[in-house]
Amino acid sequence: MSNATCDLNEICKSINAAWKDSSSFKRELELVYANAGYRWEIDSSDQIYFLSALHTIVLSSSIRYIIQTGTHAGFSAISMALALRKKGVTGRIDTIDPEPPLYGQEVISDPVGIAKKVVRNCGLEDLIKFHKGYSVKPWDDGRMDLPEAPHFVLNQLASDRRADMILVDGDHSFEGTYWDLEVGLTALNPNGAKIMFVHDYVSISEVADAVNTWKKKYSNRIDFRSHKKKNGYVIIQVI
Ligand SMILES: C[S@@+](CC[C@H](N)C(=O)[O-])C[C@H]1O[C@@H](n2cnc3c(N)ncnc32)[C@H](O)[C@@H]1O
Repeated sequence: MSNATCDLNEICKSINAAWKDSSSFKRELELVYANAGYRWEIDSSDQIYFLSALHTIVLSSSIRYIIQTGTHAGFSAISMALALRKKGVTGRIDTIDPEPPLYGQEVISDPVGIAKKVVRNCGLEDLIKFHKGYSVKPWDDGRMDLPEAPHFVLNQLASDRRADMILVDGDHSFEGTYWDLEVGLTALNPNGAKIMFVHDYVSISEVADAVNTWKKKYSNRIDFRSHKKKNGYVIIQVI
């Protein structure tokens, strides 16, 4: 994109401006799932704001390489991949999940299996790479029975130092969030946008505590914006 930016104020302005079109993005995403056989209504009171923000951040900036913790049914990975496809650039989303058969209170079985099917169906395989495992270690035993899966997948992916953005939405315990940020920081390309996006900053106190603890440690190296409606998210830029 000719007007691609890495400036955090500009990115936040673009996200705010795109909210007025979030209902059309909601329909676009629902159609992608419906075409793969999943009739899913995306929650317009919260989830769509998060997904629209991710779609816009990728669409309006120079971001191309993203590492995500927490694939689940793929909504966020697919939102970002659709933006990469619209930009017409090469890029890649590496998404990590230990792939439990069930997660949280939900009744959806094999959510990552659903994500894989939708990605194949809409031809996004070149843009989204699935990694089965724990980003760092298994801590989040309050939300799922922890399956056997490799550890330290984020550490391995970080060694390339290629990521423009890290999306933290996997392990929602204090340790899980904190270490996703610590290891995620080492994955950032020093010449890239250097963005870290964390979901559930308002709805989950362990996530907020971890972000705030991490933020204190790096206060002189980061720019920080929070979106406090509903589940909430933060966007951090390393400077
Ligand atoms: C809230 S869901 C993610 C929602 C997803 N980002 C979306 O937009 O659809 C959290 C996911 O994180 C995964 N998870 C839990 N611990 C993890 C870890 N240590 N590393 C990576 N993923 C993890 C869970 O299996 C679950 O699928």
